[in-house]
Formats: sequence, C-alpha cells, structure tokens
Amino acid sequence: MSKFIIEGGKRLEGEVQISGSKNAALPIIAATILNKGKTVLYNVPDIQDVHTMFEIIQKIGGKINKKHNKIIINTSEIHTYEIPDNLMRQMRSSVILAGALLGKYHQARFSYPGGCEIGSRPIDLHLKGFEKLGINIKEEHGEIFCNTSQILGTQINLDFPSVGATENIILASCLGEGTTIITNAAKEPEIEDLIKYLNKMGANIKGETTDRIEIIGVKKLKEISYNIMPDRIEAGTYLVAGAITGGKVKITNANPKHIETVLNKLEETNCKIKIEKNSIEIEAPKRIKATDIKTMPYPGFPTDMQSIFGALLSTAKGTSIITENIFESRYKYAQELNRMGAKIKIEGRTAIIKGSKKIQGTKVVAYDLRGGAAMILEALAAKGITEIENIHYILRGYEKIEEKLKKLGAKIY
Ligand code: EPZ
Repeated sequence: MSKFIIEGGKRLEGEVQISGSKNAALPIIAATILNKGKTVLYNVPDIQDVHTMFEIIQKIGGKINKKHNKIIINTSEIHTYEIPDNLMRQMRSSVILAGALLGKYHQARFSYPGGCEIGSRPIDLHLKGFEKLGINIKEEHGEIFCNTSQILGTQINLDFPSVGATENIILASCLGEGTTIITNAAKEPEIEDLIKYLNKMGANIKGETTDRIEIIGVKKLKEISYNIMPDRIEAGTYLVAGAITGGKVKITNANPKHIETVLNKLEETNCKIKIEKNSIEIEAPKRIKATDIKTMPYPGFPTDMQSIFGALLSTAKGTSIITENIFESRYKYAQELNRMGAKIKIEGRTAIIKGSKKIQGTKVVAYDLRGGAAMILEALAAKGITEIENIHYILRGYEKIEEKLKKLGAKIY
C-alpha cells in the first residue's frame, strides 16, 4: 500500500515552482485528436491522470513521444472510437475524449467515467449537449454509443456551468457545420486555455472567460505546439502549506489572476501576500485567524481548494464555516482530520470548524485527490508523526509533491 510518513511541526520556508495544470492538460490532450496530426505540448505535468490519458490515446491508435520537456502527440493513425472501460473508470476527464472523437469522427463509444468520490457526478449535461448537436445517443448495458452523420451548430443552455460539459460541447462542435452558442457556460481558466489551444490550431471560438461561448465550425485544424497554463490548485496548495506551518513560501510560475479569491481568503486569515511578476509569496503569522468560505463556480472560491482550506482552518484561532456549493459530498476528509485533533462538524453541505491548537500525528487514509492533499497539510502542522495511506489518489494530481515539500523543509518520506 502506497503511503507517506510526515513528521510535522516544521515551519516551511523557501521557493517552489508550480507545474502545468492537470485540469488544462487533460482536455487539451483529448483535443489533439481533432487535428489528426501532430501536437507538441510543453509544461505537461508528470502525474498519473496524464499518464492514463496518454494510455487511452495510445489504445485508440495515437502515438505519444516524450522528449526532455516536451510531449509529442500524433493522432494521425487513430483507428478506433471506443474508450476502454477500465481506463474510463480511472478518471472523470476520460469523458472529454467523447467530445473530441465525436467532433472528428462523428462517433464514440464509452462507459460512465470514474474519478474522485465527491458526489454522483452525472454526465447528463454532456449528453444533452451532444443531443442538441444532432448526435444520436444509445445506452446499453452501461455503455453509451454516440454517432451522427454531421454535427449541426445550435444554441445550448447549460442548467449548471459544468466545466466538463462546456469542454465536451466545444470539442464536439469546433469542426461542425454552422455556429454553436453555449450560454451559462463555465468560465474556469482551464477552459480559456483549451480555447486558446484550439484557436491556435485554427478553430474559431469566441467568449472565453465569459458565460457565453460562440463556436463557429471550421473545416480543418492544423499541427501546432502549445504551452500548458500553470496549475492554480497546486499553487493554492503550496501557499496553504506555508500558511498552515506559520512559514514563508514563495511559489513561481503561477498566475495570481487565477487564484484571486484564494489570495483574498489567505489575507483574511492574517497571512501577508506579496505578488511579483512571476511569483507569489506568503508569510504566515504563528497562528492564522478563522474565516468563512463558500465554494462557487469560477471566479468564485474554487471547490478544489475546499478541503485544503478545511485543513488550514482546523488550526485557526476561532470558528470557521465552509459551505460546499458544487459537489454534494466533498467532506470525506473531515473524519480523518478529526482523528488528528481537528474539530470539524459536518451538517449537509456545511462544515463548522472550531480551530484547534492540538493537532497530533496519527494514521489516516486518503479517499480522493484534494482530500488527500488536505491530510498532507494537516500532517505538516501536526505534532509528531502522521502516516497517510492510499497516496495514489494524491499522485494523480500533484507532480513531485514529496520532492517539492522536502525543498521547503518538510520531513516527508
Ligand atoms: C472539473 O470537474 C474538474 N476536473 C474538477 O477538479 C473540479 O472540481 C470541477 O471541474 C469543478 O470546478 C477536471 O477538470 C478534470 P463539473 P467536472 O462538471 O467537469 C454537476 C480535481 O480535484 N454536473 O463542473 O466533473 C456535478 O455533479 C477535480 O482536480 C451534473 O450534474 O465538474 C457537480 O456537482 C475534482 N451533470 C457540478 O455539476 C453534468 O453533466 C460541477 O461539475 C456535469 C456536472
């Protein structure tokens, strides 16, 4: 069983470089299917979810070559439109391949995606969007078969600004006939990065960073190279590592614009934030102050930072309230933090967190990516040794996390 052992109580200090964004790289790797040729990607994070996405691309006939700091993806010989079930189940973003296969080949066969256990995570908005584009959908024995003779531009209003559904509709429609307008679209920076990548390939998409995205279908997309944006959640995670240990941490290669709400909340807890051209530095007080969090779609406070702030606020002076508005069950980490002395009470979508000065090391188990990250942060602040089991969840989304934390003075093995 993969585990981390962490000796807490060390004040973290130093500088760490942020890697490429997991949630931008995954849809962009899927989108390489659309040019039926070569794409060179830079700043792709070396994490499990990216390896899984590469495995799927190779399984359906694509070729992946890694050279130093670049990844060359060749999708000219894709020969099947069926995504293997075992790989579909490994992560949520495998469903994004459906939009790319439908956009290029007008067919796709896949099962319901897997991913972190943080709620039911249906794909009804994805499928409704496909249907509006004129795609026939048949579900049989847990498999979904999609096909069409052509993709017709249309108007699609999303019941909820779903990141994945927005991405899937963009991928399915950018080579279609006519214009598709998505209203109530998600505005996350990762979608802006995907649209920048597609437009560089020759797509004609407008409205990124707004809730109205217009996709004018084009005939062909060309071979390009592209640099993936930095990971805003990884950036927030290392800033909180500084905050929870009363430390002083500088992160480089991060975009402060992408985490404005996170930086505001860190300042509310009495941390000092210094923003320079290509870096963000945090200097924390000995003990941070309580504050309240409500997760919202971008540009609101990101749900992926919810558990990470749950850990931070469990050490605060005072009581904090967190409200999780995006996923219906994203508090599984709380019971594990409570074993370490945190005082987190869950009532539906709300967490009431009474700050505690007595966080102690013990054995805990990770259940998902961001909950696992929260346990690492709690362990860094704890007195004594913490053992975290199931760290494969954490390695899905954080590149070289052990190495980066050691560089900041953490005792992690
Ligand atoms: C993306 O997931 C991210 N994953 C998630 O990050 C992130 O938490 C989420 O967006 C919200 O920001 C990737 O980009 C790979 P959604 P996604 O569709 O696309 C409901 C991480 O830790 N919904 O915006 O799955 C859904 O159940 C991961 O890096 C429907 O009801 O998120 C959820 O309650 C975790 N029907 C809400 O919308 C649908 O068809 C938001 O989901 C689709 C979604």
